[in-house]
Amino acid sequence: MRVPGLPRRPTSSFTASSFTASSVDGFIADPEDSLSWLLTRDVDVHGPMGYQAFLDQSVGALAMGSTTYRWILGHELAGGPSRDWPYALPTWVFSTQELPRAQGDLRVVRGDVAAHHPDMLAAAGDRGVWVVGGGELAGQFADAGLLDELWVQWAPVALGAGAPLLPRRVELRLEDVVRNGDFACARYTVLPPVAGAQP
Ligand SMILES: NC(=O)c1ccc[n+]([C@@H]2O[C@H](COP(=O)([O-])OP(=O)(O)OC[C@H]3O[C@@H](n4cnc5c(N)ncnc54)[C@H](OP(=O)(O)O)[C@@H]3O)[C@@H](O)[C@H]2O)c1
Repeated sequence: MRVPGLPRRPTSSFTASSFTASSVDGFIADPEDSLSWLLTRDVDVHGPMGYQAFLDQSVGALAMGSTTYRWILGHELAGGPSRDWPYALPTWVFSTQELPRAQGDLRVVRGDVAAHHPDMLAAAGDRGVWVVGGGELAGQFADAGLLDELWVQWAPVALGAGAPLLPRRVELRLEDVVRNGDFACARYTVLPPVAGAQP
């Protein structure tokens, strides 16, 4: 059954997508890298444009920067990195550092996202890559022409500062909007850059 809010198109055309929650002023984490402003809100992960349907129906591989990876290690694997990684899907962590390793289908890579994208797509099968975060990594996918969708769950809060949603100029087309609990959820198609526009 098709879940409301998911695109009506073959998943084979899906390259990479960003699905993230944001404050209304465009931050995905506060200056202390905390998500307390987010995790206390009401949302139905199985509801309209919910996280679970996105993950189950669209995603075959994950990409994330090292700050997001460390956040997951610190919060979802509170018993330490020897615990199992919470995602069953193959995951690419971008970092120039030696990182603590969780038990799971993980690899740490660096450099041009386009160089790693074919491996991610191959692992993803007939699904796409979810750029979990942060915004700069999503921007690197956009720069390479590899980000085709942006899903944002807008939380009813302004943070004033923090990690930006997408620190680039990226042209978007609004496709869907729906309310889910406390969140205004929007799905955008990423459009080609406008000629002569400043990044
Ligand atoms: N609101 C949400 O839904 C949501 C979703 C995801 C994440 N988050 C949160 O948002 C914050 C994201 O922070 P962020 O945007 O600053 O960080 P991030 O993208 O998670 O990590 C940035 C770091 O990744 C490494 N990196 C990025 N691109 C790379 C490349 N091409 N090659 C090698 N290394 C690369 C660099 O660190 P090193 O080289 O030094 O390792 C860089 O400083 C975190 O607190 C996270 O928990 C929120």
